[in-house]
Amino acid sequence: MEKSVYTHDAASAAAIAAAYDEPPLAYVRSYGCQQNVNDGEKIRGVLLDCGFGITDSAENADLILFNTCAVREHAEQRVFGNVGALKRLKEKNPRLMIGLCGCMAQQPHIVEKVRSSYPYVDLVFGVDGIDTLPALIAQRLGQKKRVLQTPVERNAVVEAVPIRRDSGFRAWLPIMYGCDNFCTYCIVPYVRGRERSRLPEDVLKEFTQLVQAGYKEITLLGQNVNSYGKGLEVPVDFADLLNMLCAVPGDYQIRFMTSHPKDASHKLIDTIAAQPKICKHLHLPVQSGSDRILHEMNRHYNVEQYLELMNYAKQRVPGITFSSDIIVGFPGETEEDFAKTLELVEHVGYMQLFTFIYSKRTGTRAALMPDPATHKEKAERMGRLLALQDKIAMQQVASMVGQTVRVLVEGAARTEGMLTGRLDNNLTVEFAAAEEMIGHYAKVSLTGARATVLTGELAK
Ligand code: 5AD
Ligand code: SF4
Repeated sequence: MEKSVYTHDAASAAAIAAAYDEPPLAYVRSYGCQQNVNDGEKIRGVLLDCGFGITDSAENADLILFNTCAVREHAEQRVFGNVGALKRLKEKNPRLMIGLCGCMAQQPHIVEKVRSSYPYVDLVFGVDGIDTLPALIAQRLGQKKRVLQTPVERNAVVEAVPIRRDSGFRAWLPIMYGCDNFCTYCIVPYVRGRERSRLPEDVLKEFTQLVQAGYKEITLLGQNVNSYGKGLEVPVDFADLLNMLCAVPGDYQIRFMTSHPKDASHKLIDTIAAQPKICKHLHLPVQSGSDRILHEMNRHYNVEQYLELMNYAKQRVPGITFSSDIIVGFPGETEEDFAKTLELVEHVGYMQLFTFIYSKRTGTRAALMPDPATHKEKAERMGRLLALQDKIAMQQVASMVGQTVRVLVEGAARTEGMLTGRLDNNLTVEFAAAEEMIGHYAKVSLTGARATVLTGELAK
């Protein structure tokens, strides 16, 4: 593994300062998963480090950066739509710099499309380029030509990148990058490169700083957190890392995502059971309830193994809840396969389900598989799955009513005077309380439920 440490780029900062009369402003928008949101926070940190201010308004910005997602086609279309809308701003302000980075920018055909069809995009760089951003901006300022980087896989771990976090009480903490699983539908291994773990001491250091800064919830991130530690010289796995982090004194809770069912171990579940600081919730994406489709997806587990793991978790961790991702309409999925997915969902009783219609990604193995079902058929299957999950979630949520629970107060609810809090099991509750409670824990009595949102009142 290549590890490097971020250093302040004084030469680029000076070039940027010289190019503007006043400190320039940057607008950064991130799409997609939490990993990308965390990358967006680092991009803001690096921009602050080289002399930019941060603005929430694209209209006022000197630099607009879209940190993109490539996991489904819809996400890419949205980005191109939003980039298209920037043409008008560029006409008003020819000095405006427009950049595209993140997972889309890691694909050669996307860079080509920007080159040929979006002449007003100044800057393109991939997921591993955040630490080089000051140099890229300085380069663009110093030349007429655009800076459109050909995607390279650097597979690096860069430590100590400056960060401007969005929240003062909930933090994302990546423990590993990349993915080696090559699920046949997924673009992630191609755009985020090979799996590599941060050193445990680097994770521990950042974690301790967050706890000391008063963060109440820290979510450990990785495409497959359960393979944490593979390839490191020190023998350490994800459960070991959790135990190490839980030894840090303080008033906080830990979440993590995502767990691949093929690697989630009994040891991990025993650790969740033993450590009160770890939330009793497991996001365990199953993707499909059909063994045949799971095999075609290259998932390396079958339904029986998946259920065995869940049963173990239910026995060892009383009250644990589950959520999952499901893909509807994978190439070749038959009505019979889909019925097995419905059966599994009914059987497990997930608190939450994230459902996606299969989206063909150029370069993946599934993109070459025959896919006879029409979009209409897939959408119809999706409708049935959502209806089933609504019914299950409502039952699950209603079964919580009457309990008094600890929640982390996250923010203002839509209704005036109401706040939202998140339970250990990832459900949300709305209750009346003063705004000063945001960012703190509260005890809430659950009095009712509206669809899948609980309602409650502050406990005495
Ligand atoms: N089409 C639809 N859904 C996908 N996912 C990943 N790739 C695709 C795709 N090509 C879903 C999976 C994954 C989640 C993050 O996104 O369910 O777990
Ligand atoms: Fe994609 Fe599979 Fe890796 Fe998750 S584990 S990022 S679904 S390839």
